[in-house]
Amino acid sequence: MLLQNMKIVITAAAAGIGAGIARVAARDGAAVTIVDIADEPGNRLVKEIQKAGGEALYIHCDVTDYAQLEQAIDRSATHFGGIDTLVNNVGLFDNVIHPAPSIKTMDETHFRRILEINVVSHWMAAKFATPYLRESANASILQAGSIASFLGYPGGPLYGATKGGVAQLTKHLAVELAADRIRVNCYCPGAIRTEGSMRFLEQAGEKAFLQTLTGPNLVPRIGEPEDVGNLVCFLASDRASFINGVVYLVDGGALAWRGTLDLLGIAPESFLS
Ligand SMILES: NC(=O)c1ccc[n+]([C@@H]2O[C@H](COP(=O)([O-])OP(=O)(O)OC[C@H]3O[C@@H](n4cnc5c(N)ncnc54)[C@H](O)[C@@H]3O)[C@@H](O)[C@H]2O)c1
Repeated sequence: MLLQNMKIVITAAAAGIGAGIARVAARDGAAVTIVDIADEPGNRLVKEIQKAGGEALYIHCDVTDYAQLEQAIDRSATHFGGIDTLVNNVGLFDNVIHPAPSIKTMDETHFRRILEINVVSHWMAAKFATPYLRESANASILQAGSIASFLGYPGGPLYGATKGGVAQLTKHLAVELAADRIRVNCYCPGAIRTEGSMRFLEQAGEKAFLQTLTGPNLVPRIGEPEDVGNLVCFLASDRASFINGVVYLVDGGALAWRGTLDLLGIAPESFLS
């Protein structure tokens, strides 16, 4: 059990990648707090984890309401007797707040909203969790970046800018919190099967999705939330105690080269099935 006796708080964990991280963490022995605004799937996931013999708590919280966010972190720490890991998983793509995201259609209010959720809320959650993390023998913060932390692709300019910010925030927080023995690392998923990425597929179309997102995957499939959960849980565990301030890709090899699978004669598995 990689995370035996550990207490882990995950934002945006009712669905998608966050839920995948929650499932893997619970399976690895951690007590899991699911922070989200989607109460029904959040509570359903708690029941699923408990039924499988794990420990879980759901807390309703909009991460941009900082009073709520502080209360959520305090409540999790009180309920489970501390916090070892904070996973700043929340992150919105441009198309969640605008149907046709572009510099021609969006204004600064859109940018501020994405920035608030994707970067500022991470820093605020880290701020509120630090007093608890300081008490842990194996404390760390994990933050959700993206392949968009490294390169551009169509339809998400504001998202990409903020994800670059998350990668840099990771390194600066790792420096700042080193004296408190809190490690800070970043995980950067490629195309992962979630509601968020399927929304992008609907908007951009299958061809664009294939070419820009899954086409370069050297592992010829779309990623699953548990693929990200496996990396995050390793980084949270004491097996990663010498790993700090690092930005990791979990993208099936997509950013290792410039090409798409057809060049190698490999047929990608259908990601729609
Ligand atoms: N899915 C991918 O392919 C992919 C790729 C790269 C990076 N990422 C990053 O991984 C993270 C998770 O992505 P996903 O695709 O699972 O997300 P998603 O869009 O599927 O949403 C996950 C959850 O976020 C919750 N949420 C939304 N706004 C919230 C708020 N204000 N407060 C609390 N919870 C809120 C939703 O209720 C939902 O349960 C994000 O940071 C995303 O940018 C995802």
